[in-house]
Amino acid sequence: MSILKLEGISKTFGKGTGMVTALDGINLSIDKGSFTTIIGRSGSGKSTLLNIAGGLLIPDKGQVILEDIDLYVRKDKELARIRRKKIGIVFQAFNLIPEFTVLENICLPSYLDQSKPNMKFIDEVLEIIEMGDKKNKYPHELSGGEQQRAALARALSVKPDLLLADEPTGNLDIKSGEQVIDALQYCYRIFNQTTLLVTHNLEIAGQSNRVITLQDGKIVSDSVGEMI
Ligand SMILES: Nc1ncnc2c1ncn2[C@@H]1O[C@H](COP(=O)(O)OP(=O)(O)OP(=O)(O)O)[C@@H](O)[C@H]1O
Ligand SMILES: [Mg+2]
Repeated sequence: MSILKLEGISKTFGKGTGMVTALDGINLSIDKGSFTTIIGRSGSGKSTLLNIAGGLLIPDKGQVILEDIDLYVRKDKELARIRRKKIGIVFQAFNLIPEFTVLENICLPSYLDQSKPNMKFIDEVLEIIEMGDKKNKYPHELSGGEQQRAALARALSVKPDLLLADEPTGNLDIKSGEQVIDALQYCYRIFNQTTLLVTHNLEIAGQSNRVITLQDGKIVSDSVGEMI
């Protein structure tokens, strides 16, 4: 069953001779409970695709349907609410709030929605990603890998329908990067979390259900793999 559909998505940046076509007629359907990776050279459109899928960037053409919701016909405020409730996003830069503890950062999406954080679930996630003992630390007291796992826990805290991650290991050393990927894969296995991951790492891509390759804003290959 499809949870996300991108239909005829195009996006250009700039004007005149400086115009860049970042995405060119993308059609893509993501199944509920799948772990998909997106690969492709620098500049091929991966982040643009993820941002559009995540409700963060308005496409020039096309529709993004999350479950039955057409994201970009919604008003800004409503879109922000849908995003907070249904989509978890992890970026390359961890984007934690430095004045907040790990737990406060994780609870933020719920507080912004005036809903009560699901502490039982949050504790379960923290245990799985081996961050249970770091709840009351501030971001500056954590390693890069720990900060990224805190960001992952924040993204998962609302049990999102869709988890998007844009090169979440890009700023990390190999070992910390592996821990973040392990954490993503555990969450996929344990919660059956639908995940869309952008990575440069072909080994990680090889471990996913499906690998999509972008080139010059187009999908040039889409292959089904086997989740390890
Ligand atoms: N805000 C922007 N303004 C102008 N051009 C942009 C903007 N964002 C992206 N682009 C251009 O759109 C194209 C696709 O960019 P995108 O960031 O999606 O690539 P990417 O595949 O994520 O690359 P990387 O692997 O380096 O992160 C590139 O040519 C980029 O220069
Ligand atoms: Mg990118």
